[in-house]
Amino acid sequence: MRRKFIAGNWKMNKTNQEAIELVEGLVKELSGIDSVDIVVCPPFTALSDVKDVIDGSNIALGAQNMYFKEKGAFTGEISPLMLKDIGCEYVILGHSERRGIFGEKSDLIEKKVISAFDHGLTPILCVGETLSEREAGDTFKVVEGELRNELKSLSKEQMKKVVIAYEPIWAIGTGKSATSSDAKEVIDFIRKILADMFDDNVKDAVRILYGGSVKPDNISSFMKEETIDGALVGGASLKVDSFSAIVKGAL
Ligand code: 13P
Repeated sequence: MRRKFIAGNWKMNKTNQEAIELVEGLVKELSGIDSVDIVVCPPFTALSDVKDVIDGSNIALGAQNMYFKEKGAFTGEISPLMLKDIGCEYVILGHSERRGIFGEKSDLIEKKVISAFDHGLTPILCVGETLSEREAGDTFKVVEGELRNELKSLSKEQMKKVVIAYEPIWAIGTGKSATSSDAKEVIDFIRKILADMFDDNVKDAVRILYGGSVKPDNISSFMKEETIDGALVGGASLKVDSFSAIVKGAL
């Protein structure tokens, strides 16, 4: 049985005071829920303050990105050692905004995935197609390429721990989510590729989330698909009410 997983990607939002207020509200609202893994991914600047608030609660900490090296002359970057030291358990890698706006390619993302494991962090790897790729019929080709290039050097045991988020780029921040059957179709395909790259145990163990305009009123449509294990939530993770309602909608 795969455990359900709901993560909030706060992106470049929240000052430290705002982050503390948001997460204090979440701790209160979500206390006692133990059947879903709940993760918040604040900006780097708020990780430490958020960690202080969630300590001892049922909410875990994730970062939104990292570089793959431990330390050195990499101005502006954050290392896995720093994230681990501050109490992160998860790190989002390969988000479409990193790929699209900041030009991250598969070879870099693969190095980050390996480095996350080397430092005891669990990667949440995002994959997904643009609108033009979908319209050209290339969705499966794009997603398969990302999976094969970025996960190829992991062991089966490592792979079972990876969390994959299928985030069609045309559904991110647009208010236009994929339908649950669109999401299921691609997520089933991802499981098929994992079975081919690894084995059926891996295929059945990996948690795969949907992301893209997830809201309180559509979460249940995704969760009723047996193959979808949860959601990576952007905009709706920025308010106590909406993120709590999404977590509760996944129970
Ligand atoms: P939205 O929920 O705002 O569409 O963002 C999704 C996302 O990119 C999560 O990583």
